Amino acid sequence: MTSSKEAILQELRDRTPKSGEYWEQSKGLVPGGLMSGARKMEPYPVYVERGKGAYTWDIDGNRYLDCAMSFGVHVLGHGPDAVLKALHEQCELGMSYGMPHTREVEFTRRLIESVPCAELAMVCNTGTESTMLAWRLMRAASNKPMIAKFEGCYHGWHDYAQWSVFAEPKTMGPEDRPNMSPGSAGIPDGAKSTVLVLPFNENAFRLIEEHAHELAGVAIEPVLGGGMLTVDKAFIQKLREVTQKAGVLLHFDEVITGFRLALGGCQEISGVLPDVATYGKIIGGGLPIGAVACSKEMVAIAQKTDDGFSAAGTFSGNPLTLSTGAAMLKYLQENRQIYADMMAKGEYLRNGFNEYCISNGYPFCMTGIGSMFQIHAKADLPVLARDLLGQDEDALTELQLHFRLNKVLLPWMHLAFFSAAHTQENIAEMLRAFKASVAGVMESRS
Ligand SMILES: Cc1ncc(COP(=O)(O)O)c(C=O)c1O
Repeated sequence: MTSSKEAILQELRDRTPKSGEYWEQSKGLVPGGLMSGARKMEPYPVYVERGKGAYTWDIDGNRYLDCAMSFGVHVLGHGPDAVLKALHEQCELGMSYGMPHTREVEFTRRLIESVPCAELAMVCNTGTESTMLAWRLMRAASNKPMIAKFEGCYHGWHDYAQWSVFAEPKTMGPEDRPNMSPGSAGIPDGAKSTVLVLPFNENAFRLIEEHAHELAGVAIEPVLGGGMLTVDKAFIQKLREVTQKAGVLLHFDEVITGFRLALGGCQEISGVLPDVATYGKIIGGGLPIGAVACSKEMVAIAQKTDDGFSAAGTFSGNPLTLSTGAAMLKYLQENRQIYADMMAKGEYLRNGFNEYCISNGYPFCMTGIGSMFQIHAKADLPVLARDLLGQDEDALTELQLHFRLNKVLLPWMHLAFFSAAHTQENIAEMLRAFKASVAGVMESRS
């Protein structure tokens, strides 16, 4: 196999000439050539023609073992039969009515049955919308203006959420009191004044108590998608205790973990109940969706505020998404064994990879839980967002190129997923490809 970076880039170009042509066109049509910055790849992204089960094919006919799974959307793999059937049936009946329909009832009933903290659910169109809605609800229910979020957590790209998503040495500030670092230009100061960034240590509890009078809620990703870092259960338990005592609401952002780690997501795994939880990705069965789940009491209080609490959305709860979503939730409720199976496969993958790197003295490691995983260019397993710093960025870039040479498809940021459609043989295939990729990077450095 070719090993120098330039040679690999050329090989990838040779394998994907049609993707290269589309990339050239796209750069003139869309800022940066991409519809979402997270789709970046070198020398350019592959343009996908189709996906089925555990595989994706690009327009040049290359088949990849898909470890992106549309950033965690496809927990059953691409195009599961039960969901496709519901989609086709609903297409014949209409795609959007702007009126109530029966699928709303089935979908929300199934969501509420599955989610421990849920008595009511609201549906919107993306994970970003779901956190925006949850934070509005928390403000309305508490009549307080601020939301606290943790450094390293991603809650979508709206103006209130895109703060300190990554710890960056130049801007992050002290460990006990991280700076507010915007993730984009154009975020107004008004939004900044409503957000508090918390550290992942005891100081967070002190800050929550100090700001309790103005803090509507605290948001957390129980597993940080950026880095695939599982938050310590004792920390989450303490966060619940502290917020409860301080009269501050707790929000679990389960846009990734919901219906992926267990039917009841991290609430089921940790046994800790938040006041509000947000969902997206999996629950749409492949179509865009977001949802907020909470208690009846919380909504009742929010609605009694002076202006009343409300939200809207032309496409919110449209029949197409709720048909595929309801079919997905039904399948998951009836096939819970997939979660134990994916947990075991994830352990096999992580143990196999980490043992390989340790025994060869290679400075790489894999984090994650269940079907969520990420490879890092460092020997020690990172625990917190700041532990992700100091990686060999060139090695990460090269690794990404080797992944594609070895026919596995991962997002550029390396956060990765497998699905229930990935067989044990597929997982073994992934492990072989990851080992070969690491060996390729090490070889080019020797
Ligand atoms: C935890 C979390 N919250 C919110 C979002 C935003 O969801 P969306 O991309 O659907 O807007 C994401 C997206 O990856 C996420 O991982």
